[in-house]
Amino acid sequence: MSGSSRPPLVICLGNVVADHTFRVEDIPQPPAKVPARGYSIGPGGMAANAAIAVVRLGGRAAFWGRIGDDLNGEPLAEALEAEGVDVTGLRRVPGGRTPVGAVLVDPRGERTIISFRGSGLGTDTDWLPLDMIRDAGALCCDPRWPEGVTVAAAAAREAGVPVILDGERSETRILVDLVPRVDHPIFSVPGLANYAPGRDPEEGLRQALASGPVKVAAVTQGEKGVLWMAAGDDKPTRTPPLPVEATNTTGAGDVFHGAYALAMAEGMAVADAMRFAAAAGALRARDGATPTRAMVDEVL
Ligand SMILES: Nc1ncnc2c1ncn2[C@@H]1O[C@H](COP(=O)(O)OP(=O)(O)O)[C@@H](O)[C@H]1O
Ligand SMILES: [Mg+2]
Repeated sequence: MSGSSRPPLVICLGNVVADHTFRVEDIPQPPAKVPARGYSIGPGGMAANAAIAVVRLGGRAAFWGRIGDDLNGEPLAEALEAEGVDVTGLRRVPGGRTPVGAVLVDPRGERTIISFRGSGLGTDTDWLPLDMIRDAGALCCDPRWPEGVTVAAAAAREAGVPVILDGERSETRILVDLVPRVDHPIFSVPGLANYAPGRDPEEGLRQALASGPVKVAAVTQGEKGVLWMAAGDDKPTRTPPLPVEATNTTGAGDVFHGAYALAMAEGMAVADAMRFAAAAGALRARDGATPTRAMVDEVL
């Protein structure tokens, strides 16, 4: 890390999605043509949301990933930049299709999501600005671009930079391959079930710790908080949730991962990082918006 007093840098690698959100009276049955009461477009995707969270929480963030050169791509690059995220590691892939989501929200806040994971984005990693890792305090990855995680995590390990993985729902083989490459695999409930099918959460965390030089394994459990275990611990620890009235839990896990990665970059102890990240995730679930550092500090 540089010796300056600038906030630490967190590199977030993985998915960015153009989320088109329509507010509707009812989710229609076909054939149908219904008016929307409201509409917005904005960046979604695990790593992109984590990067935005890092900036809101007072860190510096860079996003590494791919978009297509289609109509959905460029607005995402602009939106991330407007949030203060460094996008020098965001590649426009010629002929690629940008990941996109259609999100239908009814008056009760129930969501129906149609997502397209993108196409033609390739697997090439040669262009990644790996030199930047030396200046980073943490690398935070999601599993949507496994080739990118493999290359960046190896560079981070060599540089002694902690690597956090959002173990979100994925093919089992992808998670089994990625977990031993990272220091802090933090799963969602469905992600842990994909990683260790048929096992209970504690067994799943033990499997992750035994799979390689993994330091901490965790599973975020929504309104039940987070269950985590460090290498060498006898049993898992539960960090209780911050009690909130949730209005929109979308993105709570993404914000948790960004906050936890920033906490690692700041040198926080694991138990404190879990509390910090759980509070950030809870505020996101309460407000449907990513909290600032002042908001998290206040509730802690
Ligand atoms: N309803 C909630 N009440 C309190 N905390 C929450 C709530 N939803 C999420 N959180 C916090 O955010 C974290 C991540 O949310 P979770 O729902 O587990 O992730 P994901 O969005 O990936 O499914 C949780 O571990 C918890 O600390
Ligand atoms: Mg998640």
